Amino acid sequence: MNRKKIVAGNWKMNTNLNEAVDLINTLKTTTKQFSAIEKIVFPPFTFLKTVTDSLQNETSFFAGAQNCSEYVKGAYTGEVSAEMLSSVKCKFVLVGHSERRTYFKETDEQLVLKIQQAFKNNLQVIFCFGEVLEERKSEKHFDTVKKQLENVLKNFSEKDIDKIYLAYEPVWAIGTGETATPQQAQEMHAYVRKVIGEIFSNKAAENISILYGGSCNAQNAKELFACADVDGGLIGGASLKADDFCKIIASF
Ligand code: 13P
Repeated sequence: MNRKKIVAGNWKMNTNLNEAVDLINTLKTTTKQFSAIEKIVFPPFTFLKTVTDSLQNETSFFAGAQNCSEYVKGAYTGEVSAEMLSSVKCKFVLVGHSERRTYFKETDEQLVLKIQQAFKNNLQVIFCFGEVLEERKSEKHFDTVKKQLENVLKNFSEKDIDKIYLAYEPVWAIGTGETATPQQAQEMHAYVRKVIGEIFSNKAAENISILYGGSCNAQNAKELFACADVDGGLIGGASLKADDFCKIIASF
């Protein structure tokens, strides 16, 4: 098995310019020794160019955007296109984060268009999905995740899937301090791999990187990353503290 190990930090709507500069400078230095692990940070749009400039000589540390528009360009006030992101050397974009699905009512149809825009502009995608608490309690979590994956990924080819990392983020674990247990994470990640095998092929399933997100921190990362089908983490709160983010990277 030859999958990449990845630790990504979603800064969400946090930091100002000075804090973003401090954070990226510190992370660049403290994570130098972990060259075998791919590091990605997702700063707010306004600081993306500053961060990509800062990372321009890095070979295993990249920046991504937290969202992109499903439209190409034009009269869409407040939106940021995939082409704009590409022009500031952004390499990744998050699509389908539960906060975008819930607060901004993003639909599967929009997510497909966003991924198409990302690919047209040479951006790699981290596609996020995960069940809410009621779905887990009523044991519908596998069905929910299967639908989220099928509804969007069926619109893409096996070749496209090379440019996607998946992020399983159970909504009940995001920002709550309640993490999925390693057993729950492993069980779902193995299931996700099976679904990818059904949509595409066993080879695609074996090769795709699946990150876990939801209250992953310096204390619990080691156990989660030790799971056979967990290839890394998508970290929210703990990615804002350089020390913690570094400890998470060191957990592999
Ligand atoms: P927390 O790590 O703060 O729970 O956030 C997870 C997340 O939403 C990452 O995208």
